[in-house]
Amino acid sequence: MRFLVSAVALSVFLLAGPLAQADPIKIKFSHVVAVNTPKGQMAEKFKELVDQRLAGKVEVEVFPNAQLFGDNKVLEALLLGDVQLAAPALSKFQKYTKSLQLYDLPFLFKNIKAVDNFMASDAGKNMLTATQKKGLVGLGFLHNGMKQLSSSSPMRVPEDAAGMKFRIMTSDVLAAQFQAVKASPQKKPFSEVFTLLQTKAIDGQENTWSNIFSKKFFEVQEYITESDHGYLGYMVVTSTEFWNGLPDDIRTEVQKALDEAIAFGNKVALEKDTEDKQAIVDSGRSKVIELTADERAKWVEAMKPVWKQFEGDIGKDLIDAALKSNM
Ligand code: SIN
Repeated sequence: MRFLVSAVALSVFLLAGPLAQADPIKIKFSHVVAVNTPKGQMAEKFKELVDQRLAGKVEVEVFPNAQLFGDNKVLEALLLGDVQLAAPALSKFQKYTKSLQLYDLPFLFKNIKAVDNFMASDAGKNMLTATQKKGLVGLGFLHNGMKQLSSSSPMRVPEDAAGMKFRIMTSDVLAAQFQAVKASPQKKPFSEVFTLLQTKAIDGQENTWSNIFSKKFFEVQEYITESDHGYLGYMVVTSTEFWNGLPDDIRTEVQKALDEAIAFGNKVALEKDTEDKQAIVDSGRSKVIELTADERAKWVEAMKPVWKQFEGDIGKDLIDAALKSNM
């Protein structure tokens, strides 16, 4: 009898052993851009590193091109646990925090180097916690590049934009920026921009060389003004609940893989900025307009009052800290 009980116990143990192994933790990473972009490449690199280092423990699935969620829905999806990672443009966090709108202020940062300086400062790093009270935690910032203005008619001075409809991301700062030049801002999802341009439902949009190239906006816009008037970057974000629920060793490894993937994505961003601009020029589909110093100064003069308008929401300290990073 004793033997029988032991034999049963042993077989239960042997059967249950393999079954008791925990299922891998699933990380669905949803984003809206193409794979051949800084964010697309960062997401692929993250998956590759996790596959190498956490095989059997963590599984990453990447969903590009808004296959799963558009940016306007993905933050809700994170909070509901439908996805675990996203990297929306900083402009798309307005519902969760006002401070990240700093990055939308026109002509605030001179270039990506200045953005890097700011992001490395204490003020910049603290912004990763800006959405924490709303249940979202920032894990890192990623660059895309400086934004250019594409349009159906040539734009050299702010008056050229008057009366034109420009697609913008869901940011009141970006709306104010276009209102400052008497244009009409239209808040629309990224996934709709190509069709809106193609059907002439809108006249133009603002984006980086990488997004204009990878989403083929240059094929349906006659002109691109090289304005470098604003910054487009991302916050890699997850829900506080998911993040805090990870075992400590796994959380450390995931963060490490993300840091490396972001560094890789930032390198891709720099390369794409030059390569994709050149590819657009070479295509001959859009005419690229270079502004003279006087013309550019007119855009700055017209758009800069937006800073004052949003100083209360964003914080003067933050704006001053960002300005210092230009030095
Ligand atoms: C993105 O780069 O993620 C999209 C930017 C946009 O909506 O214009």
